[in-house]
Amino acid sequence: MKVLFVCLGNICRSPAAEGVFLHLLNERGISDKFTVDSAGTSSFHVGERADPRMREHALKRGIELPSRARQFIRSDFDQFDWIVVMDNSNYENCLKVLKGEAEEELRPKLIKMASFTPKTGLAEVPDPYYGGAAGFEQVLDIVTEGSENLIEFLLKQ
Ligand code: 4NP
Repeated sequence: MKVLFVCLGNICRSPAAEGVFLHLLNERGISDKFTVDSAGTSSFHVGERADPRMREHALKRGIELPSRARQFIRSDFDQFDWIVVMDNSNYENCLKVLKGEAEEELRPKLIKMASFTPKTGLAEVPDPYYGGAAGFEQVLDIVTEGSENLIEFLLKQ
């Protein structure tokens, strides 16, 4: 199963989701069943490592974030089975890349992380970039709950 996590910059939320998801797969001994990657809908930070604040908070939980930012592209819709977006603008920006082509067919691959986080009561994963430490911790809490539920969902597909 091939899963791509997507946010705006690919330096905070989606690398965190990718790292936490992989960590949970490893804990469960099922990482060989999955291909996991992340991307951003913008080109702002292409080539950069995850934000140092995000890496520091993840490392406190024993999770390394080795990814390098790249931009989400049209072929990701073909390469991945599931594209997990962090917020509603990511969702719309992913669809825009299709320019209307095969939208009906490909839209079901796009899913929102917040659909898997009922306990948070949030409809989106908040962007922590301009905020403080609490925002980074919150992102890690959300993507942990989301990844646990996402794994359960994917294993049933
Ligand atoms: P991300 O956070 O989408 O979670 O990676 C952001 C990172 C950078 C910017 C915005 C959001 N930026 O505007 O540079």
